[in-house]
Amino acid sequence: MSAKSLRSQEWFGRKGKDGFIYRAWMKNQGIPDYEFKGKPIIGICNTWSELTPCNGHFRELAESVKRGVLEAGGYPVEFPVMSLGETLMKPTAMLFRNLASMDVEESIRANPIDGVVLLCGCDKTTPSLVMGACSVDLPTLVVSGGPMLTGKYNGRDIGTSDVWRFSEDVRTGIMTEEELNLAEAGLCRSQGHCAVMGTASSMACMVESLGLTLPGNAAIPAADANRKVLAQLSGRRIVEMVNDGLTLSSVLIRQAFENSIKVNAAIGGSTNFVIHLLAIAGRIGVQLTIDDFDVLSRDIPLVANLQPSGNYFMEDLYYAGGLPAVMNAIDKHLHKDCITVNGRTVGDNIAGKVSLNRSVISDLDQPFNEISGVVVLKGNLCEAGGVLKPSAASVRLMQHTGKAVVFEDIEDYKRKIDDPDLDVDENSVLVLKHVGPKGYPGMPEVGNMGLPRKLLAKGITDMVRISDGRMSGTGFGTVVLHVSPEAADGGTIALVQDGDLIRLDVAGRRLDLLVDAVELEKRRASHIHATNAFTRGYAKLYVDHVEQAHLGADFDFLKGGSGSTVSRDSH
Ligand code: FES
Repeated sequence: MSAKSLRSQEWFGRKGKDGFIYRAWMKNQGIPDYEFKGKPIIGICNTWSELTPCNGHFRELAESVKRGVLEAGGYPVEFPVMSLGETLMKPTAMLFRNLASMDVEESIRANPIDGVVLLCGCDKTTPSLVMGACSVDLPTLVVSGGPMLTGKYNGRDIGTSDVWRFSEDVRTGIMTEEELNLAEAGLCRSQGHCAVMGTASSMACMVESLGLTLPGNAAIPAADANRKVLAQLSGRRIVEMVNDGLTLSSVLIRQAFENSIKVNAAIGGSTNFVIHLLAIAGRIGVQLTIDDFDVLSRDIPLVANLQPSGNYFMEDLYYAGGLPAVMNAIDKHLHKDCITVNGRTVGDNIAGKVSLNRSVISDLDQPFNEISGVVVLKGNLCEAGGVLKPSAASVRLMQHTGKAVVFEDIEDYKRKIDDPDLDVDENSVLVLKHVGPKGYPGMPEVGNMGLPRKLLAKGITDMVRISDGRMSGTGFGTVVLHVSPEAADGGTIALVQDGDLIRLDVAGRRLDLLVDAVELEKRRASHIHATNAFTRGYAKLYVDHVEQAHLGADFDFLKGGSGSTVSRDSH
């Protein structure tokens, strides 16, 4: 690409006062004049924050990207965007995913940037950055922060999924608070994001399977020197992508999304993947529906043995060959001619990448579970859809009819769940309302609600649970999530009462409230919908504009993109 056609030259290539203003203030950072004369300017979009511990090493990672950019003849400029830390942000980091995506989109478009490297790690930082970048559509490459080293406690491997087990063990007295403290000290042993196939790892696999990263990106641990090598190579490559004009929309075609859905099934990825991939497709203009997730993952078994669906951790996945070996194992199901950011096809990138440890990565003939992926349920309880992750659920509960035990909201749940007088047994179906996008707001990860203490004491480890909320990618259980429409948006889930029968039929892809239509209409007529309680600020904007989960929970006015052209300038 000639200097003349570089987008950044609209700023730095100008003569007179305008060019002077654009260049002169940049020079206060010690930048020589020749850097402005037609080099690709590469933005490094950084979600570093000490409040996002999973991304706490990103300033170092950015230095590696910069080295690569400089080597390849570009000029790197690092800029911060809103960072979303999963563990600290209240009420839930998901409330801010769309806000962060707006920050990313506007920061890229408004500045003299020719190509972008997105530094992503903790759960929401990946989708928000990719969504924002899609709405601008410059050459874009993702570098993930990498997973933490495997946690250790009492001589055994632990990961984020154990948090749920520890919590139940403390509630039932199997584990002491002191032991919990020891586990806490051993869980997060290094920089990086959660080390199981939770949402962050699923997002890292998502961007790799979409073709947005260099091969192998997803599994290299954050603490491994090869993570920095990948970052440096990514810096080199983004300059070539600018020169070649390889934009996001040339990589993100429908077939790339299909590949990603199949890979998410093969790895037992997070249910949050559904919401984020739908939102990304909506930004780049690819037609994708929630039903595609069910149809496309039906033939894909679980070939990666990773927690929470299996036994191992991301570090093990790396040593076993990483995502290229997983993709190689299911290659007959993939569109191998999709182009990726390294300029090569998926087929080129995964050729010969066989599993190095069959306990961790198997193949289609000997999978760890015949069923995987995401099941999409329909029925009168979720007309627009609900999702369930079969590899994390109990086979015995896949066909189940039980009496509803209803919690009107999360506070109601917390008040009642351990009440010894709660009318509940192991066949009951727990229903949690008003934790959807509008109802909470922000759709928190509370769908895999803990079981009543009195049932835990009886040795019960799983029950059917239904909500309009989400579940942590590290969670497990027979949990129906993302029920849409949600209770706060007119969904039938709002009408469920204690004692109603609910039937879950996973094979038939149904979830039904066994209450006759006349009775339901009567309840609907007398149901009072809460109105948006927020009168100002971002929460009001969110509730007014967020779409339902089956559409990706993006804002209605953010769908699609506006390109990279800036039509007016003030200089
Ligand atoms: Fe950041 Fe799990 S808390 S990835």
